[in-house]
Amino acid sequence: MDETDSEEIMKIREFKIDDYQTVRDLWRTAGLTLRPGDELEDVKLKLQRDPDLFLVAELEDMIVGSVIGGWDGRRGWIYHLAVKPEHQRKSIGAGLVREVEERLVAKGAKKVNAQVYKWNEKSSEFFKAIGYEAQPDLVMIGKQLRK
Ligand SMILES: CC(C)(COP(=O)(O)OP(=O)(O)OC[C@H]1O[C@@H](n2cnc3c(N)ncnc32)[C@H](O)[C@@H]1OP(=O)(O)O)[C@@H](O)C(=O)NCCC(=O)NCCS
Repeated sequence: MDETDSEEIMKIREFKIDDYQTVRDLWRTAGLTLRPGDELEDVKLKLQRDPDLFLVAELEDMIVGSVIGGWDGRRGWIYHLAVKPEHQRKSIGAGLVREVEERLVAKGAKKVNAQVYKWNEKSSEFFKAIGYEAQPDLVMIGKQLRK
């Protein structure tokens, strides 16, 4: 299937809780580092907040990609973007990000950020190709609030 074919039949829709296991498997297959916040009850919490920003991409009714968008009222965020390895480089990742960006703009966002591990060159190259810029003057800091 070439890129044009896959673009023609790719469907993007909102994540449903019944997709959880499939999407969790996709995260693992794509090599994402899963965190305590990726458990079913945490995903349910996310869906209470902005369910319209958690998207899946389907080819012939099979989930081949997913992304979680976040809107905190000031910034947009992109998390857990993943495309099945055998379907990468068919513009699916770019399509998912574009859709999240449009939905964020509709909510009022002026900027969107994503966090990429330093070792993840593939992801850095991807984000660079779709217009994102690294911010080497920033360091990510965080604190565990609860287990
Ligand atoms: C990053 C990822 C989501 C990209 O998804 P994708 O559907 O393959 O990306 P696209 O086909 O939309 O790529 C768009 C452009 O990004 C760039 N790009 C994508 N993958 C790339 C790679 N491995 N190396 C270099 N450039 C890449 C290319 O310019 C590409 O355009 P082209 O194929 O016409 O050359 C996918 O590689 C993935 O799931 N990786 C594992 C999980 C991950 O690291 N997620 C990001 C967490 S921050």
